[in-house]
Amino acid sequence: MAIGQSLTHAAKATGPERSQLAEFSNAEIPDETARTQSLAKKTVAYGGEPNTEARDVPHAETNRDMLESVLEAEKKAIEDCSERVEQAEAIGDVGLQVALEDNVCDERNHYEETMQILKNWELQPA
Ligand SMILES: [Fe+2]
Repeated sequence: MAIGQSLTHAAKATGPERSQLAEFSNAEIPDETARTQSLAKKTVAYGGEPNTEARDVPHAETNRDMLESVLEAEKKAIEDCSERVEQAEAIGDVGLQVALEDNVCDERNHYEETMQILKNWELQPA
């Protein structure tokens, strides 16, 4: 998931679960920052220019909306990162491949954690 989305959700979380949701979102930021730094270095090492354009943060009105948008973002991150794993394997950069596989694991763990939070959400008071 994107750093901007995590920052936004941490700021916007409301209600009794605000502290937990803000902590959940903020906890993503160090890993996302480290991944971004690592990929920027690799991009430069291969002669490219790091992408500085962030994805738009989808508007979300409620905590549930935010978590559902997290699921979408994590799903996209898993797909994108899996594609980069294949590219790293194709060029024989085993270190990059392993690092990207770790990223896929992190994103999948965050996806599954978000699914757990949303499970039976409709049974909880608004
Ligand atoms: Fe994530």
